Amino acid sequence: MTIELAVIGGTGVYALGELADVETHQPVTPYGAPSGPVRAGTYAGRRVAFLARHGEGHSLPPHRINYRANLAALKALGATRVLALNTVGGITERFGPRVLACPEQLIDYTWGRISTLCEEPGSEVLHVDFGDPYTPSLRRQVVAAAAQAGVALVDGGCYGATQGPRLETRAEIARMRHDGCDLVGMTGMPEAGLARELGLDYACLAIVANWAAGAGPEVDEVITLQDVLDNVSAAMAGVPELLRRVLAG
Ligand code: HPA
Repeated sequence: MTIELAVIGGTGVYALGELADVETHQPVTPYGAPSGPVRAGTYAGRRVAFLARHGEGHSLPPHRINYRANLAALKALGATRVLALNTVGGITERFGPRVLACPEQLIDYTWGRISTLCEEPGSEVLHVDFGDPYTPSLRRQVVAAAAQAGVALVDGGCYGATQGPRLETRAEIARMRHDGCDLVGMTGMPEAGLARELGLDYACLAIVANWAAGAGPEVDEVITLQDVLDNVSAAMAGVPELLRRVLAG
């Protein structure tokens, strides 16, 4: 079976509403089981697979996600391209709440996660090129699709992947800004690196849910889950049309 696009949903995105003729797969991979079932079906006339990264009931925190199994499961179903939806905080001016962005760089601050396919003794040692962590051709398609769909999207930016599950301190965000990060999220790595090791095209569609700690106009603002979910659902309004255009492209 060919899957033209696999979509991984992040916080607040647990299904693809328009997916039709859905088959449910419960794959088991050499790395174990993915976060939940993979729903494969038809979206705008094309074969699409969807997986909720945290599980459909959001039961897995970022550091407990089996990123290897998730990507291996999508690949085993025939996917070659993955569009990762990642809910993030915004650090720099252009990346305020409800913005959609397609970052082009990342910095990995996570630790203690299995971040490679060559973890097991005896497995082939891989040193994949990762200068462009997101596949440029898929990024270009996402950016073009947004323009065609009339959906505002920031092309570029640097995603900083933190360990979580707690949010960051204001000092941590100030350091990340100094490092060059525009966005902060907890699930961007090791997912992007593993996708590269697996030979999958991979791009991130980041959905800004909140200003990161100390980054917004109200310096002592408290970030609530409700704000995060409200902003994600507002920002998702244009995503179905964007996906249709990616699939048509
Ligand atoms: N920090 C890290 N991850 C996030 C945030 C944040 O502010 N918002 C949504 N995911």
